[in-house]
Amino acid sequence: MRIALYQPDIAQNTGAILRTAACLGVAVDLIGPAGFDASDRALRRAGLDYLDRVEIIRHVSFTAFQAARRAAAPPPRLVLLSTHAAVRHVDFAFCPDDILLFGRESAGVPDSVRQTADAQLRIPIAAGLRSLNLAAAVALTVGEALRQTRGFPA
Ligand SMILES: C[S@@+](CC[C@H](N)C(=O)[O-])C[C@H]1O[C@@H](n2cnc3c(N)ncnc32)[C@H](O)[C@@H]1O
Repeated sequence: MRIALYQPDIAQNTGAILRTAACLGVAVDLIGPAGFDASDRALRRAGLDYLDRVEIIRHVSFTAFQAARRAAAPPPRLVLLSTHAAVRHVDFAFCPDDILLFGRESAGVPDSVRQTADAQLRIPIAAGLRSLNLAAAVALTVGEALRQTRGFPA
């Protein structure tokens, strides 16, 4: 299981997600450009002390991310989390090697990225509200995916 963040805007959200990833043993793909300095040095300076415990792969663009994903045999599925999706995340059967892709805080993902996803999922929320915070959406989705695939750390 991997978390992929598409052009994240807010450093604090990425910090919280990296900490979640470290604690749950899940790797992170950071797809650039980010809206902040996402280098190891900057993340350390911001107080992210779990950095050594999480595998982070940085991709300069979505095209570079896709090339890396497609180089695997077989390529892992790309599962997009979107407020516009029809399928609820709790109704989806996750696989252990899925990549869970999350959009940027300000704008989600463009259609060109959406069209490449193998599945699109929505976390149900109360009527009339826009969306969850990105870090909360990641935690809820990874929690469900690891529960289904029995992937939580022992
Ligand atoms: C703050 S939301 C961005 C909302 C953005 N304005 C949009 O229309 O997509 C950031 C990301 O968190 C995830 N997210 C937030 N709430 C979600 C929900 N209820 N269902 C699925 N994904 C959600 C999505 O990946 C989304 O792109």
